[in-house]
Amino acid sequence: MYLTKTITDLQQHLQVAVKKGANIGFVPTMGALHQGHISLIKRALSENEYVVCSIFVNPTQFNQATDLETYPKTPAADVMLLAASGNHVLFHPDVSDIYPNGMQVKPRNLGPVSTIFEGAFRPGHFDGVAEVVSRLFNAVKPTKAYFGLKDYQQCMIIKALVELENIPISLVFCPTQRENDGLAMSSRNRRLSAEQRKTAAIIPQTLAFIRANYSYYKKDELLLAGREMLLGQLQTEYLDIVHAHTLQPLDSASDPAVALFAGRCGEVRLIDNMLLTE
Ligand code: PAJ
Repeated sequence: MYLTKTITDLQQHLQVAVKKGANIGFVPTMGALHQGHISLIKRALSENEYVVCSIFVNPTQFNQATDLETYPKTPAADVMLLAASGNHVLFHPDVSDIYPNGMQVKPRNLGPVSTIFEGAFRPGHFDGVAEVVSRLFNAVKPTKAYFGLKDYQQCMIIKALVELENIPISLVFCPTQRENDGLAMSSRNRRLSAEQRKTAAIIPQTLAFIRANYSYYKKDELLLAGREMLLGQLQTEYLDIVHAHTLQPLDSASDPAVALFAGRCGEVRLIDNMLLTE
């Protein structure tokens, strides 16, 4: 696996592949890699001749300084996992490479999906995500880019960004990888105590309960029961059932629907979601 820190070196290295007409698959990450990330790499490897993974903990998407400071970093383990996966290039830039003129974030109109749920609870978060993804796309110039549905709303933001800026990239959204008890894999899970880790399984249990009962009960009844399940276990920020494409309230029972959750297990903020319709 080729390791590089600078955009210039990355582009020089990729030139050979580009000249050969190779498709470049790109998986942006913030490191502390787990099998969720690796599933994206594997998917990218199956669809492209060349795969680039980036590890960059993007300061502009953290709306709380402590969250940035405590974000887990496991560089040595990341390199081993990536190399074992068959990934071709690891792009590991410094902040000054991605933000050479200071951490400016261009204001973008990413539509109504950007201001609700994560957009409302983490002001500025999606502006920072859009900014860094736009910069990374520009550096890597991939054919296809891979994102996990674990961050459901982020997928919609990236789709909006690509449409807004006419970026010639195909987006591939990949299924959420889960631990044996259903908890969605996440870099943040490492920060949970053993007891919190056990408690966190109530999140996928609640979402699975909503999915199993979706065709039998009214939305409000399900949400009430779901919030009851979570009560006393975690601090729920939101649990909602919305239109799977717009994240707006449902108009009819036949609309595609998704259940979205965010909450805190102690200090650790966790998000998850489940599609309720096919
Ligand atoms: P990060 O949280 O490191 O996630 C990198 C990618 O892995 C994202 O597309 C995320 O949705 C995906 N992912 C995380 N957990 C997953 C799981 N359990 N199953 C499947 N995919 C999973 O998301 C970010 O970084 C950043 O916001 C980024 C897009 C890199 C911009 O900084």
